Amino acid sequence: MTEKKKPADIPLYSDEDMVEVHADLNHEKHPPTIGFLHAPLVFVFLFGCLIFFCSVQLAETTNKFQLHPPAEKKNQLSPEELVAQKLKRKIDSGEKVFAQNCASCHQLNGEGIPNQFPPLAGSEWVTSDPGLITNIILKGLKGKIIVKGETWGSVPSQAMVAVNINDRQIANVTTYVRQAWGNSASEITEKQVASFRSQSSGQTDQWIGDQLKELFPSGIAD
Ligand code: HEC
Repeated sequence: MTEKKKPADIPLYSDEDMVEVHADLNHEKHPPTIGFLHAPLVFVFLFGCLIFFCSVQLAETTNKFQLHPPAEKKNQLSPEELVAQKLKRKIDSGEKVFAQNCASCHQLNGEGIPNQFPPLAGSEWVTSDPGLITNIILKGLKGKIIVKGETWGSVPSQAMVAVNINDRQIANVTTYVRQAWGNSASEITEKQVASFRSQSSGQTDQWIGDQLKELFPSGIAD
């Protein structure tokens, strides 16, 4: 005869008790850490602020998310201001062309290097007839020249080879050089450069200084 478990050994729970016991067990399974709930809220708030301020900043800098400046703003500038703005952009771009293509020899300050590279600051070759500086860039220059009373190019190694840049870059760099470091000469246009380029197409070698002086008699005084 198998021994039957006496009902008295098993604690007696009613259904309600069971539910209550389980409810107690489920309750506070993970006791909350102090401040646990606040940390993510603070982050949500901070990121919210960050996104908000970034959006405001973006709207501000992009002119309310427009890619192009509004038409009225352009029209607000007087014709003279527009011309000045265009010239400034041209000179800024010419400054970069100079730094990349000329400064290694003539130096960023346009002073050149004694006995090697002549100065552009204060040079008549730069500031007189636009044909001179443009042609020097287009074809290069060799032989003796006088710059600011000093003779250059006495040795063959002291020569300049043509600088291979396009008409716009030449117009920009010559305009920059003609107005930098105290130089004060007129702008040179892309059209002028194009016409000098076609006029000099027959010149295959570097220019000689005297040749250029003949071509542009109004240029160099000496
Ligand atoms: C590799 C060196 C070198 C580079 C690069 C160079 N030049 Fe020259 N440049 C010379 C030399 C050397 C002479 C003198 C040539 C001579 O005596 O016949 C000269 C002469 C000149 C002259 C006439 C003389 C004077 O001092 O005014 C001008 C103008 C000139 N260069 C402008 C430029 C410009 C603008 C660039 C850039 C687009 C440029 N050069 C790039 C070496 C260079």
